[in-house]
Amino acid sequence: MKYKQLGHTGLYVSELTLGTMTFDNEGGSYAGMIGATGQGLATRMVDLAIEAGINIFDTANVYSSGVSEEMLGVALGDRRQDNLIATKLYNTMSTGPNDLGTSRLAIMREVEGSLKRLGTDYIDLYQVHNFDVTTPLEETLRALDDLVRQGKVRYIGLSNFAAWQIAKADGVARLLGTERFASVQSYYSLVGRELEREILPAAMDLGLGTFIWSPLAGGFLSGKYTRDSEVSGRRAAFEYPPVNKDQGYDVVDALAAIAEEKNASVAQIALAWLLHKPGVTSVIVGARKEAQLIDNLGAADIVLSDEEMARLDEVSALKPEYPGYLPVWRRGDTLFGQLHD
Ligand SMILES: NC(=O)c1ccc[n+]([C@@H]2O[C@H](COP(=O)([O-])OP(=O)(O)OC[C@H]3O[C@@H](n4cnc5c(N)ncnc54)[C@H](OP(=O)(O)O)[C@@H]3O)[C@@H](O)[C@H]2O)c1
Repeated sequence: MKYKQLGHTGLYVSELTLGTMTFDNEGGSYAGMIGATGQGLATRMVDLAIEAGINIFDTANVYSSGVSEEMLGVALGDRRQDNLIATKLYNTMSTGPNDLGTSRLAIMREVEGSLKRLGTDYIDLYQVHNFDVTTPLEETLRALDDLVRQGKVRYIGLSNFAAWQIAKADGVARLLGTERFASVQSYYSLVGRELEREILPAAMDLGLGTFIWSPLAGGFLSGKYTRDSEVSGRRAAFEYPPVNKDQGYDVVDALAAIAEEKNASVAQIALAWLLHKPGVTSVIVGARKEAQLIDNLGAADIVLSDEEMARLDEVSALKPEYPGYLPVWRRGDTLFGQLHD
């Protein structure tokens, strides 16, 4: 397992993160649709992840209405101090006018709930799950900064922001002198490369680390969905993230060919492609079954050649889009590479 520095911070995180969105033993909102991994399997997954060298675990206040946080806390047990917990706020389990978002009121309330459910007195990475269009960024940043000063939170991150929102948030933090966001958590996969247009360049330019969610597009890139057979799995009930299947099955075919050549699984090659991409700090692997997690952990050992990366890049290419196809952006590509060599 490789460890990478998280953006402009001094923190090192494993290049794979364990996602805990499937943790649910109480039939909460995520059960059935995304997974209902009981405590026994959840603890086993945490054991396997730690054995493989993973040092960071991703959850959220809303995952299974708080049950995922509780189960992660139990699974880590006395190993909590040696591992990093990343959780999120913004979404809510209730419907009051002040329940959603990242107002000072919501932040101060949600952090206490997450700390209690996790059974810890600090959160390593506290992530804003979505951009709050109504709360001023100044309010959100000052409240998060207070949590860092109080020692309840070590680092702050954001998720699902557009590039301009990331840049604005970083600029406001610098102007205010508050804690800056350390990381961006975004969707990225071989069938969802949109973040390459704006979000990844913004994160790299500003020195923010990146966590990648749904790296297998909810299982679409696991190898079990092919042009000829769509087995049951989460995507049968919940087609998310959306996939352009015409191109998507070409990607699956290319993955299968490389997987066969390398005696690896389709999922491992799909994850390894992300691990080879510049600007990616850590890929969040999710699993509903123990065998899936073991399979996915194997991605850390896969080395893809330039030729294999080029094949996958080509079959999954985004359509050119303004202003990306302008010559000035081609010079930007060179700069993009130079900044991070
Ligand atoms: N910030 C956000 O907004 C956000 C959003 C989504 C997720 N996340 C984070 O990202 C993590 C990962 O997301 P994800 O669960 O969507 O990741 P994913 O890797 O795209 O999908 C995982 C699902 O694919 C199937 N699968 C995984 N590995 C497989 C394998 N080797 N063989 C066959 N099937 C396999 C399983 O579902 P089935 O068995 O049901 O097919 C599994 O639950 C989450 O746990 C969460 O921490 C964050």
